[in-house]
Amino acid sequence: MPKTELDSATPAAQLRRKIETRSARVGIIGLGYVGLPLGLLFSEEKFPVTGFDIDASKVEKLNSGASYIHHIPSTEIQAAGKRGFRATADYAQLAQADAIIICVPTPLDEYREPDLSYIELTTEAIAPHLQAGQLVILESTTYPGTTEEVLVKILESKNPRGLKAARHEAAPANSFFVAFSPEREDPGNQSVARRDIPKVVGGMDKASSELASLLYSSIFNRTVVVSSPAVAEMTKLLENIYRCVNIALVNELKLLCLRMGINIWEVIEAASTKPFGFHPFYPGPGLGGHCIPVDPFYLSWKAKEYDFQTRFIELAGEVNANMPYHVVQAVSGALNQHKKAMNGSRILMLGVAYKKDVDDLRESPALTIIELLRQQGAEVSYNDPYFPFVGRGRRYDLQMHSTPLEKIPEFDCVLIVTDHSDYDYPAIVRQAKLVVDSRNATRGIDSPKVVRC
Ligand SMILES: NC(=O)c1ccc[n+]([C@@H]2O[C@H](COP(=O)([O-])OP(=O)(O)OC[C@H]3O[C@@H](n4cnc5c(N)ncnc54)[C@H](O)[C@@H]3O)[C@@H](O)[C@H]2O)c1
Repeated sequence: MPKTELDSATPAAQLRRKIETRSARVGIIGLGYVGLPLGLLFSEEKFPVTGFDIDASKVEKLNSGASYIHHIPSTEIQAAGKRGFRATADYAQLAQADAIIICVPTPLDEYREPDLSYIELTTEAIAPHLQAGQLVILESTTYPGTTEEVLVKILESKNPRGLKAARHEAAPANSFFVAFSPEREDPGNQSVARRDIPKVVGGMDKASSELASLLYSSIFNRTVVVSSPAVAEMTKLLENIYRCVNIALVNELKLLCLRMGINIWEVIEAASTKPFGFHPFYPGPGLGGHCIPVDPFYLSWKAKEYDFQTRFIELAGEVNANMPYHVVQAVSGALNQHKKAMNGSRILMLGVAYKKDVDDLRESPALTIIELLRQQGAEVSYNDPYFPFVGRGRRYDLQMHSTPLEKIPEFDCVLIVTDHSDYDYPAIVRQAKLVVDSRNATRGIDSPKVVRC
């Protein structure tokens, strides 16, 4: 038999052809901020897509054509539905998939250690349905080694057909392919199209890398293939640790600048004019979101296995974790200037989302600040156009409704925690008795009522 025919008969060649002809069936597990947009992108490119989620309400909403993510309009879900996109909680349907992409959460547990339970449970649920020739890609952010030590180990030990991950060119025909490819979305950032964000891919072997790269090439303009899943895992962590450490640096410098009477934002703006060697980071009321406050600790935990202390990560964590306390102290000082005690004061917090223009509350510093203000006897209300109501989450139970901005004059202090673009800051300053601004949202407004912290 000629070599080309032999090649075309391999599982890798078959999957390659399916990807090229857009007939490869894509299964996305975890339809959250990462998984849902990813599934929609594949659907737009005419791939048959099935989404899997254990949250029955999400499955029901998607199948009825509704969205639950602010920046994804329901019309996009409906359009995908017309192209055959369906959501389900039935893992048995994974047997029909050609590529399975895992986008489940990777939080920290109560001891601030990696909680891999979502990845483990998902992998255990995939294993009984695993097929030879399938491509399994992990996208969840995690420590280097997870793909090989956790995902592959579970898939190999728990699939009933004795299938093994392809590890070299001469892999047997009953192999499956595995890769890690980190998600790089920046929620709320409209300046870079998702398609223009290069996609890093690291497969267990060359064929796995090539297949994952080919699949992602249909929705991203550029893929960057690295030599292993561990390199891809570490790449994502480096990106997030870089942000975390630099944010801590400006947070610390802000505290010094406040003491010295220097405006840190003016300093950053001036430094940003340097055309090389400087990238601006901005201080704030504390870290938030799923990634920056969480991911670095995946690495510091793993480093301990190698008897290694990741000191930059620990120090950055310490500085950033202190910022909500600094904000509360600033509110207390500002009230004091107005001859008011924190105890009994009415405070309106503007913005509870972890950053501007997103409907995401995860790890938001606002939650810590509310708790700290209440501990000191303040009466706290909030306004956030993205959250008409805040109920119960993993670490909070607020049951609060957003207060209309017309009520600003009734409050002793307005505290800006999230600088949403929709707010009319000059009007807010005009109506408020006192404004404490942790984001420099009131820049350019010269008023004795404003305290920048
Ligand atoms: N949100 C971001 O901006 C972002 C950016 C880069 C990387 N990441 C990483 O991507 C991963 C997913 O993050 P996200 O923001 O999409 O999380 P998310 O909480 O928005 O979504 C996760 C989804 O997975 C579902 N899920 C949980 N366990 C499941 C299971 N066993 N089977 C099927 N579905 C399950 C949940 O119901 C939820 O819908 C995380 O590792 C995160 O660190 C997120």
